[in-house]
Amino acid sequence: MLKLGILGAGNIATKLAGVYNFLRNEIEPYAVASRSLEKATAIAEKFNFAKAYSSYEELLSDPAVDVVYIATPHSHHFEQMLMCIEHGKHILCEKPFTVNASQAEIVFAKAKERGLFVCEAVWTRFMPCVKRIREILESGELGEPRFIEASFCVPICGKERMARPELAGGALLDLGIYPLNYAMLYFGENPIKITSTAVLTELGVDEQETFTLEYEGGRIAMLGSSMTACGAAPARISCTKGRIVCEKLLVCEEIAIEDGSGVIRKEQFPFDYNGYEYEIRAVIKAIEAGKCETEETPWSTTLGELRIMDTLRAQWGVKYPFE
Ligand SMILES: NC(=O)c1ccc[n+]([C@@H]2O[C@H](COP(=O)([O-])OP(=O)(O)OC[C@H]3O[C@@H](n4cnc5c(N)ncnc54)[C@H](OP(=O)(O)O)[C@@H]3O)[C@@H](O)[C@H]2O)c1
Repeated sequence: MLKLGILGAGNIATKLAGVYNFLRNEIEPYAVASRSLEKATAIAEKFNFAKAYSSYEELLSDPAVDVVYIATPHSHHFEQMLMCIEHGKHILCEKPFTVNASQAEIVFAKAKERGLFVCEAVWTRFMPCVKRIREILESGELGEPRFIEASFCVPICGKERMARPELAGGALLDLGIYPLNYAMLYFGENPIKITSTAVLTELGVDEQETFTLEYEGGRIAMLGSSMTACGAAPARISCTKGRIVCEKLLVCEEIAIEDGSGVIRKEQFPFDYNGYEYEIRAVIKAIEAGKCETEETPWSTTLGELRIMDTLRAQWGVKYPFE
């Protein structure tokens, strides 16, 4: 069984440690590393990991670790992935994979050279509803998909990693990435036109924004995010004869299929655990099959996503100090 190590002991690392513990018949929760041994030990003890390390380097130097889950601020993903690759580790890295597309190109080139697996942890791409939504769209039942709406607003501007430019703060890379991936799942990663507007904070990162992607054939996705406002609107795919509504963009266990006059039916996709298990299972499956990427989030998709976010930030003049 693959042995898993975690870099960082913050919010999402703790949540995912619980998922790895739940999946312990499929992957071995092996080690946690934090800059604080106390924090690493607390997670390791709570979720039955064998080892706790007080530095990331120590975990990467442990030859028993096969795959590393990176759960640190965006600004650190690039360098930490390069360190993982140097140590011959497979990687599942939190979203955004890197801060920009040129960093991701370097990571993919180095992973390719070493034959290592690398994947961006946009967990929503791996959920069971995605396959079903694609089936419904392809069946023609609702006619032609024309218009997507999705947004994600969480008032987390007070977090240091959201506020500070040197930690690659801002709403887009953390929150807007979800509506963006929703549109990409059904319309793809190559819009022909990108328009947007953003409000910046005093420190010069994006507080909130809306952005519109126009695709070939006149399809449009209208998307947005905010790190000061509260609440997410349902995500919708409107077609010529009806629409699909995901009441929750992230935790999507139910979809409604509507025609012009209302809901025709609902379909449920109850999670086995909390929804993160699907991405982890896809990672295990791909690594065990000797692959370097997953079908759900191939490298080309991550690059497409980052290129769109690069374009949006360029439109707003948001540039991080290390870029
Ligand atoms: N997939 C999801 O649902 C989801 C949800 C939330 C966040 N995320 C992603 O996960 C990443 C981490 O987010 P989080 O909410 O877990 O953040 P967090 O609670 O602030 O934790 C980040 C961890 O990174 C480590 N770290 C290393 N260098 C740091 C630095 N200079 N400043 C601050 N922390 C540093 C710290 O771990 P140690 O002190 O233990 O070393 C810290 O606990 C982000 O990229 C975010 O986009 C994903």
